[in-house]
Amino acid sequence: MIGIIKGTGACLPEKEVDNNELARIMDTSDEWIRERTGIIRRHLISGETTVSMSARAAERALENAGVAAEDIDMILVSTVSSNVVLPSTACAVQELIGASRAVCFDLNAACTGFLFALNTAQAYFHAGVVGKVLIIGAESLSNLVNWADRGTAILFGDGAGAAVLVAGEGEFPQLVMQSNGTKGDVLTCSSPFDRGKDSPVKADMAASQGETYIQMNGQEVFKFAVRQVPKCIEELLEKCDKRPEDIDLFVLHQANARIMEGIAKRLKTDISKFPMNLMEYGNTSSASIPILLDELHRSGRLKKGMKLVLAGFGAGLSWGATYMEWDA
Ligand code: COA
Repeated sequence: MIGIIKGTGACLPEKEVDNNELARIMDTSDEWIRERTGIIRRHLISGETTVSMSARAAERALENAGVAAEDIDMILVSTVSSNVVLPSTACAVQELIGASRAVCFDLNAACTGFLFALNTAQAYFHAGVVGKVLIIGAESLSNLVNWADRGTAILFGDGAGAAVLVAGEGEFPQLVMQSNGTKGDVLTCSSPFDRGKDSPVKADMAASQGETYIQMNGQEVFKFAVRQVPKCIEELLEKCDKRPEDIDLFVLHQANARIMEGIAKRLKTDISKFPMNLMEYGNTSSASIPILLDELHRSGRLKKGMKLVLAGFGAGLSWGATYMEWDA
């Protein structure tokens, strides 16, 4: 048994902030941001939360799949930026959508999170212990961004995407998943609970809150993405006995248009096979792949039988790719 995506959904915050608006609060310009990243605008929370966006995306995915919330066996949420720590975002979603039978937990693999959640769900399908799974990638990265740091603040956006998987016949999907913690320092965000050597009981609570923002060595992350992602996709294609020209679409984490172009070039594949929506949403971390899948699905670009490669990459460092044939 494998999990087959039968429905998708997304939720973007209403508030849109374009590059010109950012240029009014920091030393940057629309031209610089577009040239270096491809991003034109992003949606930022203003009233919405990671939980509320997750629940909305989930409801849309369930409706799209024709599956009732009560029939879901498992909810997996990938996030690094939830408004809740306890209970998990997945449990909070369970309550909001009424998925009373589901077992729920969260997963943190940064921008690779949706892909790892998808693969985790597939392992449960393969083991025969689930029949219907809801996976969600959701982020409110605007809460983790230092708005005084133009090197990172221009990149990220908020949003959520979801997919409903239903058990069907098929072989376990080919996949590649990798992590390298020794290079973790190129993209970090410390926790407000990191109180250093002090015991939390004795720590000065005010001082311990510290600055817990995303910090990044942009050039190192860029190099990592354009080197590792094509290698990983090539490894995946070899496992599937396929070549890049056999693939209809490469649905990649939406970080940066130049990264996408670099990956396409290394795979000697036309960029038109790499759909992009980062212009509208920026980098929404683990939400980017399901938001893109939802757009492709609802616009009719995904057709039954299409051969897809999904690939994610990001903090950890972590990266991975999965092959699937579209069957919604
Ligand atoms: N607006 C204007 N100038 C900016 C700027 C901004 N938003 N951010 C940085 N700069 C400046 C720098 O200060 C630097 O100025 P200097 O030459 O006077 O020192 C100059 O632009 C070049 O900075 P640099 O960091 O070398 O730019 P870059 O070409 O590497 O582009 C990124 C920066 C962040 C766009 C690029 O490195 C990148 O996209 N990296 C990958 C990031 C990513 O995708 N992370 C998430 C992965 S999941």
